[in-house]
Amino acid sequence: MATQKRPVSPIKIILSESEMPRQWYNLAADFRSPMLPPLGPDGKPVTPEMMSAIFPMNLIEQEMSAERWIDIPEEVLSILYRWRPSPLHRAVALEALLDTPARIYYKNESVSPAGSHKPNTAIAQAYYNKVAGIKKLTTETGAGQWGSALSFACSLMGLECKVYMVKVSFEQKPFRKMLMQTWGGSCIASPSDTTNAGRSVLAKDPNCPGSLAIAISEAVEEAVADKTGKTKYALGSVLNHVMLHQTIIGQETKKQLALAGEKKADVIIACAGGGSNLAGLAFPFCKDKIEGAQIDIIAVEPESCPTLTRGPFAYDIGDMSGMTPLLPMYTLGHEFIPDPIHAGGLRYHGMAPLVSKAVADKLIEPRSIGQTECFEAALKFARSEGIIPAPESSHAVAMAMREAVKAREEGKEKVIVFGLSGHGLLDLVGYDKFMSGNISDHEPSPEQLARALDCIRSFPKP
Ligand SMILES: Cc1ncc(COP(=O)(O)O)c(C=O)c1O
Repeated sequence: MATQKRPVSPIKIILSESEMPRQWYNLAADFRSPMLPPLGPDGKPVTPEMMSAIFPMNLIEQEMSAERWIDIPEEVLSILYRWRPSPLHRAVALEALLDTPARIYYKNESVSPAGSHKPNTAIAQAYYNKVAGIKKLTTETGAGQWGSALSFACSLMGLECKVYMVKVSFEQKPFRKMLMQTWGGSCIASPSDTTNAGRSVLAKDPNCPGSLAIAISEAVEEAVADKTGKTKYALGSVLNHVMLHQTIIGQETKKQLALAGEKKADVIIACAGGGSNLAGLAFPFCKDKIEGAQIDIIAVEPESCPTLTRGPFAYDIGDMSGMTPLLPMYTLGHEFIPDPIHAGGLRYHGMAPLVSKAVADKLIEPRSIGQTECFEAALKFARSEGIIPAPESSHAVAMAMREAVKAREEGKEKVIVFGLSGHGLLDLVGYDKFMSGNISDHEPSPEQLARALDCIRSFPKP
């Protein structure tokens, strides 16, 4: 059993509500070179009007904003106060277990009602849609964290919510659907036979396990089909405004590290699916890095969906059927269907343009890990610190453990901070499979990756 060697205080760093950040941080304002624009089907930059078919104008303005700081509306703050500021924990038991001189901290986003960081943007997006007079939101979800977060947010804002959930996760995680229904949302498995996009996938492969790209196509199609304009689409990651809404995480973390007496962080780690929890934790530290601070910022992705580590930086669409603009991002090609790993939220073919640019500019370093190492690390974390991490978050746990062991080998007292983006209490089927030896690793072959990129060859090059 891991025992604490020395008394450490504080081990749980809590901010008061009055210390919660009141503005979001926009990294786009601090890049040394400008971001490439999203492109329409004609190869020209998309206009706000083109995006207005699926998003309300107030969110489109945020999506395109170059302002460094954006005020958080009072109504959004008043809801975030229910669980924010979230705690920063010192992982003393894990440090003892690893016998490391590193000080390990984790930012605990699992304390939100939906169990992850996703409500930080769900509340904001539902709020802006409500203000714009929208009555219903459609969305996709991988592991179900985003779908449940949006259902929760819509219930507070009086909006209807319809969620297309990637079929493999729908089957692996039945409790997520119940959670969405409990908050008044409805949830169906994707590919479904209720949209053209879903039907065309099923016609080719009736047993398709689904992908986030397919689920996005279905949700966008339903929003666009409502000719009253009262239904819009909401995305749980990837887009600039989603990254923005998550930056409250890193801003709080910086204040908490200072309270804990830490002068600086040496290593920041977060898992990356579409990039939002990574952006949330890391972007305020990227600002410091641009201003000269020495910090290693690591994005961790699954070996089976190696967007940042093995994909090219290219223009690609965000969904399967081309209903979204072309985004400048690292991508595996929108037709890439990853192995059905348990970290469903990390099975996305692309990466947020803001995160992609931060990686291309060497502010963030990408690495990949196989799911067995992640489950192994998650069990060690659960049996020392107590919290059972979401399979997505276990990628950050595993990388933090690798870094802590490296610090021991180098004899360095590093400050390692990682994002615990969610808990895994509704992901126990995955844990059960791991503990009974039924989880394996999978890496796509170079040929498979090259084939998957065929679908983007005709797109403009960045
Ligand atoms: C707990 C958790 N962490 C991380 C992710 C990955 O998404 P993102 O990269 O946008 O944070 C998800 C996505 O569903 C998630 O549920």
